[in-house]
Amino acid sequence: MLILAIESSCDETAAAVAFIDDLNEKFEIRSSIIASQIDIHALYGGVVPEIASRAHAEALSKITYEALEKAEVTMKDIDAIAVTYAPGLIGALLTGVNFAKGLAFANNKPLIPVNHIKGHIAASYVENNIRPPFLALAASGGHTSIINVRSYTDFETIGRTRDDAVGECFDKIARVMGIPYPGGAEMDRLASKGNKKAIKFPSAAVSGDNLDYSFSGLKTAAINYLHNAEQKNEPICREDVAASLTKTIVDSVITKLELAIEKTGYDTLVMAGGVAANSHLRQGLKEFAERNNLTLAIPSLKFCGDNAAMIAVQGYYEFKNGNIAKTDLNAVARP
Ligand code: KG4
Ligand code: ZN
Repeated sequence: MLILAIESSCDETAAAVAFIDDLNEKFEIRSSIIASQIDIHALYGGVVPEIASRAHAEALSKITYEALEKAEVTMKDIDAIAVTYAPGLIGALLTGVNFAKGLAFANNKPLIPVNHIKGHIAASYVENNIRPPFLALAASGGHTSIINVRSYTDFETIGRTRDDAVGECFDKIARVMGIPYPGGAEMDRLASKGNKKAIKFPSAAVSGDNLDYSFSGLKTAAINYLHNAEQKNEPICREDVAASLTKTIVDSVITKLELAIEKTGYDTLVMAGGVAANSHLRQGLKEFAERNNLTLAIPSLKFCGDNAAMIAVQGYYEFKNGNIAKTDLNAVARP
């Protein structure tokens, strides 16, 4: 089966073609094209929704045909079209949904609605031999959730951030440190050169028997630290700030994952989303998994950030589950 997938939920326009060996449930990503808008949004220090929608509208057909060309197929060969319909920026989602609707209608193909977070988690099926049920952590610029993945299509969010997402926390502190949007990856590099015990920051794990996070206190503490030092004309070691912040985030994330594993009894953990690219988090989770005898799946870097290959993979399972969109499919910012 060949699935063409479209993703436009935030600041990346993406299209991919995946070949699925139905018998063995193996995925071959024939093409995965990503047009990033980061350079445009970096001018404003963050994503400007209206600019994102316009840039998606301009890029969608070019990217889609590039994906078909690279996969050496035409629309005739495609069996179904998958599209991200939620969650994300409403205007950005709408451009992708309307484009995919038009394409599906014009070519008489089934249209599969895919949830972006489910897509991030599905990225792990491409390279890892895992299958639900398992526990997943979805961590990106817009989301931080602990999810009970009961089956390929049945998910329950059992823990979440009560305010900022972890990626947002990295990006906002990076911005105060003069690092252009999105600063997550640069914070990762800086943290490798710093002392993680240099500064004590508050945990982002909400105290008590819950599976929630709160990154706003940590974000404010780090920003206050930077402002205070600036006011007092004290030198700031950016590497130490990044390393101490990252250590606090990794420890906080693991605290709640440990509790979630205890509550669910699962022995498989999947890490998903843009922040899954963080090398310190990857290492921390690897050690955590080893200590607790867990199977850990984290996608390779190219499948961590937003892409359409992951939407094709989740699209396959939605399709198998009979989830076909009607012509009234709408985008949903927060399902
Ligand atoms: O999943 P994603 O591409 O988009 C959303 O769905 O939000 O995630 C983007 C987020 C940004 O906040 C970015 O700074 C963060 O992922 N990110 C990282 C790293 N690479 C990307 N955060 C920490 N360390 C990284 N290496
Ligand atoms: Zn994402």
